[in-house]
Amino acid sequence: MDSNSETYILEVENLWKVFAKDKIECNLYDAAAVGKLEAAGGVVAVRDISFKIKRGEVFVIMGLSGSGKSTLIRCIPRLIDPSSGRIMMNGDNVSEMDQEQLTEFRRTKAAMVFQHYGLLPHRTVLENVSFGLKLRGVEQKDREMKAEQAIEQVGLKGWEAHYPSQLSGGMQQRVGIARALVQETDLLLLDEPFSGLDPLIRREMQEELLRLQEQLHKTMVFVTHDLSEAVRLGDRMAVMKSGEFVQEGTPQEIIMHPADEYVQRFVQDEQKIALMMEQDNKPSNVRTLPVRSGGCSDKAVSGTRR
Ligand SMILES: Nc1ncnc2c1ncn2[C@@H]1O[C@H](COP(=O)(O)OP(=O)(O)OP(=O)(O)O)[C@@H](O)[C@H]1O
Ligand SMILES: [Mg+2]
Repeated sequence: MDSNSETYILEVENLWKVFAKDKIECNLYDAAAVGKLEAAGGVVAVRDISFKIKRGEVFVIMGLSGSGKSTLIRCIPRLIDPSSGRIMMNGDNVSEMDQEQLTEFRRTKAAMVFQHYGLLPHRTVLENVSFGLKLRGVEQKDREMKAEQAIEQVGLKGWEAHYPSQLSGGMQQRVGIARALVQETDLLLLDEPFSGLDPLIRREMQEELLRLQEQLHKTMVFVTHDLSEAVRLGDRMAVMKSGEFVQEGTPQEIIMHPADEYVQRFVQDEQKIALMMEQDNKPSNVRTLPVRSGGCSDKAVSGTRR
């Protein structure tokens, strides 16, 4: 293992995803050839993106609808196969895994939480949460014990025998999170998990995720449209536009120094709040956000992120 793979749990290098009818045979770094692909109806959803995430870090990807966030996060466990680029996880090359290795990778290394919870409607909460373990061949007693533990972690103890239709949206997403937690993966990939929830419940779920993170120290990639969610949850974040990262940094850096007009549009409300708080001599969230060097260990003591 080299020193990089000890520091970074996930490394994405020069990732491209082009949706096109035909096999892509051109050089993706030839702008004219990519232009031709696009003119012929191809969509460059992810364009030469590289980033690294440290163990225990929450990395947020933010951007407008269609900017490529879902494509990018789905490329990590190869739910979508990238057109080009390399994905390294804990020193293993995900890009080169065969189907069997990939299935194992998704079950044991990288769990995903989706916006639309995707629960099995005719299975109880307990069965939904333990289902992944069943697929892994874990014995019933063991999988139920682990599922019960995950259900308790997300605050749903007592609801094990209920069916998804008997739960509110927030509760269903708690099941979605428990289903990911029970896999005990280092990496959690969350694609707009709270976007379907109303604002109060959404806030509650964000706090719940922070509470869980203080206990579990997962590494997370979290996709959102919402800057306040990114600020609350992210150690670092990237702003995505037309398949590219236009800016990457801590939430504080991005809010205080937006790289261009697109980022400025996202952050202007947060900046106004920061200025108003300053004029009132109140400490604002933005100013007091700690500049992080990585990891999540100071989240508990900063007290400024919620
Ligand atoms: N299977 C597909 N075939 C063709 N084009 C696709 C496919 N999936 C996504 N795209 C296109 O790729 C681009 C990025 O889509 P993606 O879903 O990744 O965006 P997003 O940032 O997640 O958007 P949203 O915020 O609405 O979820 C869009 O132009 C979309 O139309
Ligand atoms: Mg999406």
